[in-house]
Amino acid sequence: MKYFIANWKAYKNLQETLEWIDIFTEKLETDQAVRSKLQNNNTHVIICPPSPLLFLFSDLIKRYPNISLGAQDISAYDEGSYTGETTGKSLRGVVSHVIIGHSERKRYFNETAEIIQKKTTQALANTIAPLVCFEKPQELLPNNADFFAYEPPSAIGTGKNESLQNVLEIKKLLTFKKQYLFIYGGSITEKTIHEYLQSDEINGFLIGGASLDPVHFYTIIAQQQT
Ligand code: PGA
Repeated sequence: MKYFIANWKAYKNLQETLEWIDIFTEKLETDQAVRSKLQNNNTHVIICPPSPLLFLFSDLIKRYPNISLGAQDISAYDEGSYTGETTGKSLRGVVSHVIIGHSERKRYFNETAEIIQKKTTQALANTIAPLVCFEKPQELLPNNADFFAYEPPSAIGTGKNESLQNVLEIKKLLTFKKQYLFIYGGSITEKTIHEYLQSDEINGFLIGGASLDPVHFYTIIAQQQT
C-alpha cells in the first residue's frame, strides 16, 4: 500500500479545481487497473487543496473510498475568537488527514516544534490523522503522530529529488518511534517516482508541483505496482 498525497499549496482557484477534478475523474473512469488498485487497498490518494476548495471534491471522494481529503494546515487553537484560523473542529468530518509543519510554514510563518505539537494534538482530538513534516531527523517531533514526511528543502520544488539511498539513511536515524508511516516529499514526478516505488520502507509520497496537473499526478499514481 502506498499513499499519494497531493499538496497543492496556495495554487488554484474554483474554476481550475473543477477542471482538475473533471480530467482526473475521466482518467479514473476509463482505467480499470487503477480503480482496482484503489479498491484493493493497494493505493490511497489524499488530495490537499486550499481549504475553501475542499467541498468541490465531495462527489469524487464519495465514489472512491480510497481517495480522501487532507488539509494543508490546522489551527493550534481550539475553537474561540481567533479570526482567520481553521480549527480541527471545523475540519472534522471534512478531511481525514492534515499536513503539519511543512518547511514552508516553518520558513514563512515561523512555526516551531511547540506549535507543531499543539497542531498535532488538535488534529488527533478531532480524529484527523496528522502528517508531520521534518527536514532533519534530529528535529523534535510529536511522538503521537503516525505519519512522518521527510521533506529536504533542497529537494522541494527544485527538480533535485533526494536519492532513495539517502532517504532510507534518514529513515534509519528516525528512531524515536517504532511504528509509523514514512512519507517522502521533494520533486516527485512521473520520472522520479519509479525507484521509490520499489522500496517497502517508503509508505507514500507528498507531491507538490506534479500534483497540480491532473494527468501528471495520475501518471504517477498509475505506476504503483499491484
Ligand atoms: P514538490 O513539493 O513536489 O513540488 O517538490 C513537495 C512538497 O513541498 O510537499
